[in-house]
Amino acid sequence: MPFENIPNSSGLHGCSEHSQTPINLPTPRRENSMDDASAARPKRRVATTLAHAGRDPTAYHGFINPPVVHASTVLFPDVQATRTRTQKYTYGINGTPTTDALASIMNELEGAEHTALVSSGLAACTIAFASALKAGDRALVTDNVYMPTRRFSNGFLSRFGVEIVYFDPLDHAAYETELEKGAAAVFLEAPGSLTFEMCDIPYLAARAKAAGAVTMMDNTWATPLFFRPLEHGVDLSIHAATKYLSGHSDLLFGTISGRGEAIANVRNTVQEFGENVGPDDVYSVMRGIRTLQPRMAQFQHNTRKVAEWLSADARVGKVLYPALPGAPGHALWKRDFEGATSLFAVTFKGRTEAEIMKMVDSLTLFGIGASWGGFESLATMPVVNATRSATRWPDDEPLVRINIGLEDPADLIADLDQAMAHL
Ligand SMILES: Cc1ncc(COP(=O)(O)O)c(C=O)c1O
Repeated sequence: MPFENIPNSSGLHGCSEHSQTPINLPTPRRENSMDDASAARPKRRVATTLAHAGRDPTAYHGFINPPVVHASTVLFPDVQATRTRTQKYTYGINGTPTTDALASIMNELEGAEHTALVSSGLAACTIAFASALKAGDRALVTDNVYMPTRRFSNGFLSRFGVEIVYFDPLDHAAYETELEKGAAAVFLEAPGSLTFEMCDIPYLAARAKAAGAVTMMDNTWATPLFFRPLEHGVDLSIHAATKYLSGHSDLLFGTISGRGEAIANVRNTVQEFGENVGPDDVYSVMRGIRTLQPRMAQFQHNTRKVAEWLSADARVGKVLYPALPGAPGHALWKRDFEGATSLFAVTFKGRTEAEIMKMVDSLTLFGIGASWGGFESLATMPVVNATRSATRWPDDEPLVRINIGLEDPADLIADLDQAMAHL
């Protein structure tokens, strides 16, 4: 299953099926913008956005970066001003120049009016849900959703009277049937972060919208560089900024970007929960984002090399990487996404789980860990069916999930080769 016609450049659009032209981002809608700094941005290409968005050196004595404002209390000139609340900043939890700077970068990347910053990727998923649902509602959740998002749905949401229905994102007929029964929210994730199936996001979002549901998508895998959900009809785009956006495996952070009523409800819910982010983490995410494009280009280059090598090995069963021609979901990925990131899974032909486990334990450059999106390579063996209810992964196909880091791919391949000798 080799890659077809993929040039060896490490360009952002390293997969030749996608054009080499830079990504043109939409101009955020000025009239409704809630994060001031992004309100009047001219259209500019993504690399320029990453370097310039969220910065205003003239406002900060020429310093390139916005200040890291540590704040709870904000002073007002008089008592009347505390009542009218026309002052831009009122209290730490309501926003600071630091949070505004990061929110404006995310707005421009996602084509959003506002971006809520929250304490983890999981909090971004749970707050998005909480913002759109009330007792008695039904929510449709993709069956390949990140496991803790499922736990929140089964636990908190169910306890508060929301009916949760898991659906197979590839079974459109079943999805339509569930929508007809009523849905206030639809939660999507593509590709699934264990088995990497792609789904038809524009179709699923359009059907949900027609049914009156708010759609939300965990967009962590693609980053806004490779997929922008709001352009495809999704209402809320969610990121675990813990992964690629911050990029250094040293913090937890979440973002929710959107427009109109959907994001206004998120904003209210963030305040109602008292959700807050520390200024140093906000700054670290912003620092990570400045180098997002070269990191993603290198991830795509390295991952392509490793996936290509694996797919040519006789011991390998499937390489579940949507950018690979012939891989499940490749056609949808090619139609909708502008690149592929560093997380994929691989199965091995006719090997027992114990054999594969031994192989993974023999890796020396890959840490054994469940996260991804940082600079370092990782491998893990998720138990897929423990997190499924509407679909089933074949029991005899244990999979290894691999996150490719910024190491030299030749060294990673050599490490996989020596470990696979244990098979
Ligand atoms: C797809 C996906 N979404 C959300 C999250 C949650 O991110 P965090 O660890 O910041 O809570 C993760 C974490 O692994 C994830 O894989």
